[in-house]
Amino acid sequence: MQFRSTCIRAVLAMFAGILAQAGAQTQTPATPAQQTPQAPPTPKQAVKRDGYPEYDPAAVQRGQKTFVATCAFCHGSNAKGGETGPDLLRSVVVLDDENGNKIGQVVLNGRPDKGMPKFALSHDQIVDIAIFLHDRVKAAALRDTYKVLNIVVGDPRAGQAYFNGAGGCTSCHSVRGDLAHIGSKYDAVGVQQHIVMPREEHWGRRSQTDGPPVAPVTATVTLASGESFKGRLTRIDDFTVSIVDANGDLHSFTRNGDTPKVDIHDPMKGHFDLLAKYTDSDIHNLTAYLVTLK
Ligand code: HEC
Ligand code: HEC
Repeated sequence: MQFRSTCIRAVLAMFAGILAQAGAQTQTPATPAQQTPQAPPTPKQAVKRDGYPEYDPAAVQRGQKTFVATCAFCHGSNAKGGETGPDLLRSVVVLDDENGNKIGQVVLNGRPDKGMPKFALSHDQIVDIAIFLHDRVKAAALRDTYKVLNIVVGDPRAGQAYFNGAGGCTSCHSVRGDLAHIGSKYDAVGVQQHIVMPREEHWGRRSQTDGPPVAPVTATVTLASGESFKGRLTRIDDFTVSIVDANGDLHSFTRNGDTPKVDIHDPMKGHFDLLAKYTDSDIHNLTAYLVTLK
């Protein structure tokens, strides 16, 4: 707590400057650091094995949520690199960062020519992301201890209760249906990762028309007359909306502003929205429960 309030105050002033800079559309000069691909695997403040700071778990969790929602698309949910973004746990920018000062520059300015867009995140969000990333670096360095902490501590009964109750998982999943063998499909780490970030490998083609739909996006189209049509969304732009109904019939409608009314339902969205609700122990308990489903 002491650490956090002090560091927040310290970075407030700093970020005011960075934000002003971003507002002025200034480009970050390419840092020489980014040319050095092989970063030492430990951050510089970590001189000995148990010398890592204790990061505020609430900040780590907030940072993870923002990261998963905003950055994981390219950098992977564990920040270890994705289809287009590099492994951030080996990034010199991250390893040199203190409370978001270096990471914030990249995030707020982006590197548009290199495929990294800029993001208008608040300084609090950036500090949280930075804390999350530093915690991941620490976790990678202390892998053995972290596995124990992260994976084995959950209570399967509490996980089951959460799954069937407060977690609301049963509105989309069934432990006798789609999740029946999840404990054989993935190891414990994999199960936990898929709770946080299901089907990450499909993110690149989650648009409605691309490839076979993983979890189809559906839409309800309501005409001015009140008549409505429901089905899998196959196309939507400013002028047209098309759905395929349960009989396999295609319905296309011309759009004119809000007419007809289109309600889009992305099944994955509900899963992602839940991220805001989970606590660490919910995730651990869910993991402990789901690994038993062999
Ligand atoms: C659309 C894909 C994409 C998204 C989304 C994205 N990044 Fe990146 N990011 C990249 C790419 C590509 C690079 C490498 C740029 C380069 O080569 O200089 C990069 C580089 C970085 C770097 C510098 C790494 C280094 O060592 O040079 C950091 C830090 C970073 N991203 C953080 C983030 C954070 C935090 C977010 C979310 C707020 C995010 N990125 C979202 C694609 C993305
Ligand atoms: C609003 C719907 C919705 C809710 C609620 C929801 N999920 Fe999901 N979840 C999905 C969808 C859609 C997928 C992707 C399924 C697919 O890939 O076919 C998914 C995927 C998963 C996966 C990965 C499955 C696999 O085989 O890779 C796990 C694990 C999972 N969810 C766990 C949960 C848990 C635990 C909860 C409750 C805390 C939950 N989900 C709540 C919609 C939901």
